[in-house]
Amino acid sequence: MKTLKRIVAGILSTALLLGMTSCATTKQTEAPADAAAFTTIESGKLIMATNAFFPPYEFYEGEKIVGIDVEIASAVAEKLGLELVIEDVEFDSIIAGVQSGKYDIGCAGMTVTEDRLKSVNFSTPYATGIQSIIVAEDSEIKDIDALLGGDYKVGVQSGTTGDIYMTDDIGEDRIERFSKGNDAVLALTSGKIAAVVIDNEPAKAFVAANAGLKILDTPYTVEDYAMAINKDNVALKDAINQALKELTDDGTIAAIVNKYIPAEG
Ligand code: ARG
Repeated sequence: MKTLKRIVAGILSTALLLGMTSCATTKQTEAPADAAAFTTIESGKLIMATNAFFPPYEFYEGEKIVGIDVEIASAVAEKLGLELVIEDVEFDSIIAGVQSGKYDIGCAGMTVTEDRLKSVNFSTPYATGIQSIIVAEDSEIKDIDALLGGDYKVGVQSGTTGDIYMTDDIGEDRIERFSKGNDAVLALTSGKIAAVVIDNEPAKAFVAANAGLKILDTPYTVEDYAMAINKDNVALKDAINQALKELTDDGTIAAIVNKYIPAEG
């Protein structure tokens, strides 16, 4: 039941946001981002915290971190006249680091949640995520109810919404936390756990890279991704939102997303 409510809430919030965006588009008077109004931790730089084991949003290509979030954040930084500096950290340290003024933004396929909004501000959402369930190809778990109802162990990435919601639904004892999503998937392939709950795009990448796994058809939750920004830096949030709006309007964001997630069909 909780799950259904979350899916409905996710769809509603996305619909509301889309509605708001189209409304804003017709009314807007094209004010440029006010570069003088915001400050960053180090002048001239935009320090972004991420956790770079989350393809296609952020992942290593050799020594370099690439992906949707990296390209969107670079395009935003460029609009604001800043140099993007990326710090690869544990996912569950990002919000605290933004809150304490260590990073200007957290950009990590990060879901907007009520709870996180108590600690940080979020930019306008720029993508939608779905918590998916990965199981072994021959698993007896056929849907979310079977997963919740059994006594299966479930792997999650520490501090993610998959972790928070699953812990809420099935309790601590059945949760196995990993610092990287891929480590949870490895535990699944070696039979240590029965399922992994993780965002849909990394789920697809992990299933493609590991034989014998599949994603269940029933999604667990639907969520919005946005950049986390320190609550005191409202001017930076406004400037980032203005940049995101321009990058949405001129098709840059759609092009970045399409490059990494080619439209299906
Ligand atoms: N969307 C999920 C959350 O916000 C997972 C994000 C994990 N991101 C990462 N870069 N590892 O909790």
